[in-house]
Amino acid sequence: MTIQEMQQKILQLKKKKDFCILAHSYVKREILEVADIVGDSFKLSKDVCSAPQGNILFCGVHFMAETAKMLNMDKKVYLSNELAGCPMAEQMDPEMLKFMREREPDRRVVAYINTTAALKAYCDVCVTSSSAVEIVRKIDSDKILFIPDCNLGAYVRAQVPEKDIKLVQGGCPIHASVTAEEARAAKEKHPEALLLVHPECIPAVVEQADYIGSTSGIINFAKKSDKKQFIIGTELEIAETLQYECPEKEFFVLSKKLICPNMKLTTLADVYNTLTDPDKNGFEIRMTREEAARSRRCIDEMLRLG
Ligand code: 13P
Ligand code: SF4
Repeated sequence: MTIQEMQQKILQLKKKKDFCILAHSYVKREILEVADIVGDSFKLSKDVCSAPQGNILFCGVHFMAETAKMLNMDKKVYLSNELAGCPMAEQMDPEMLKFMREREPDRRVVAYINTTAALKAYCDVCVTSSSAVEIVRKIDSDKILFIPDCNLGAYVRAQVPEKDIKLVQGGCPIHASVTAEEARAAKEKHPEALLLVHPECIPAVVEQADYIGSTSGIINFAKKSDKKQFIIGTELEIAETLQYECPEKEFFVLSKKLICPNMKLTTLADVYNTLTDPDKNGFEIRMTREEAARSRRCIDEMLRLG
């Protein structure tokens, strides 16, 4: 079967079996092309609730499918590749967080959405990279513990200096691997280009950026800008998507290290196989109603404040 034939079959199968396919913008292009909803973490967790289909197939990483499940307990939610995890989401466990809360009970816990459902149960509010600054400003406390990404946390702290924000050591190994020297070299090589950077990058890279924002923020900025050249400081797929969608502009990657192996695990065949026989081939996300209710409180709070 060619890629195009497999894509055609997927389009037929998802209709026949009443599936909505959600895909994070970092997954491969051939998957983005067959998805119903494509976006960053915030858009996906917001739009999943209004999908009319009875079943959800998530192409992304495990914590995203868990979030989709807790918001849609009456639907079956599948992750297209069961091995697709996010190392950042695994960095803290509930015991560690409970210990920190006991030591400083007056701090509100703000969790990046890249956390497990088990950890979310002990957090006050979730944020995504596109909503973090706004939500931290709005939350009714001046003392915050921001977990687990210290780079996103440092960016939020710089934007909201009036609050006391405590950080932990954690973050995205992919974005955090880009060095300040790489950013300087990329700017020297492309002096006319604007540098657009995700806040999961280290502060020394973020400082050099012309624009800092989430995946969707970067895409929208580049599309609307009247500039012609951009250095893209997030997962490589975004530079490729932008090049497809804006052929009159030029996009350069900030670093070839910016490739998330977890997001790239899902293949078109995984999507096809799950849809062919979800019960036999699919990886279904399971949680009890009690677990979902505990974990989704901080997501509901994010959607309320964001
Ligand atoms: P956003 O989707 O919020 O831009 O986050 C990027 C990311 O690393 C997702 O895992
Ligand atoms: Fe996790 Fe980073 Fe990959 Fe996002 S890009 S899924 S934060 S490892």
